[in-house]
Amino acid sequence: MMTQRYGLIAVFMSLAFVLSMACQGEFEYVDPDPGMGNGMTNGTPQEFFTANVATGLKNECGNCHKGDAPIGPAFMGNAAADTYTAVLAATPSAQNAGKSIVAKGNPQGSILLTYGVHQPGPALSANLMTQVQTWIEMETP
Ligand code: HEC
Repeated sequence: MMTQRYGLIAVFMSLAFVLSMACQGEFEYVDPDPGMGNGMTNGTPQEFFTANVATGLKNECGNCHKGDAPIGPAFMGNAAADTYTAVLAATPSAQNAGKSIVAKGNPQGSILLTYGVHQPGPALSANLMTQVQTWIEMETP
């Protein structure tokens, strides 16, 4: 009887210990780049782009849209800063004349966001779409 009770206490003690460790982990978390990443929007638009958009664009779209030997229209560079400049400066190809690759402050007017699936390119992934939309909203027209 006694030993059973001690056994239970021991189980509770170790549970409490494990839980306190888990919580400590959370409290000790330090954002390595405070203010940016994780969808935070209190930096400049370019900082947001660099933290949340550049890598995704490179991975999902870079193979065909980077400046050197692109398969589709070249609206990207290699480094994040180059892509930021290039994508803002790019004018669409003839078939999309009159539209904007990026219309600052106007996500729905930006074909970077709205183009969707195209042969042979994919649409932006859902997560990257959210980040691109937030970034374009941050840009002052
Ligand atoms: C496998 C190659 C490939 C990939 C990857 C690719 N694209 Fe494309 N993209 C093309 C080609 C080819 C065209 C030109 C034909 C067309 O407009 O459908 C194009 C055209 C475009 C255009 C129109 C540009 C203009 O000047 O008219 C946009 C915008 C675009 N792509 C966005 C994207 C985005 C965003 C991604 C990443 C999610 C992406 N593409 C990934 C091949 C690709």
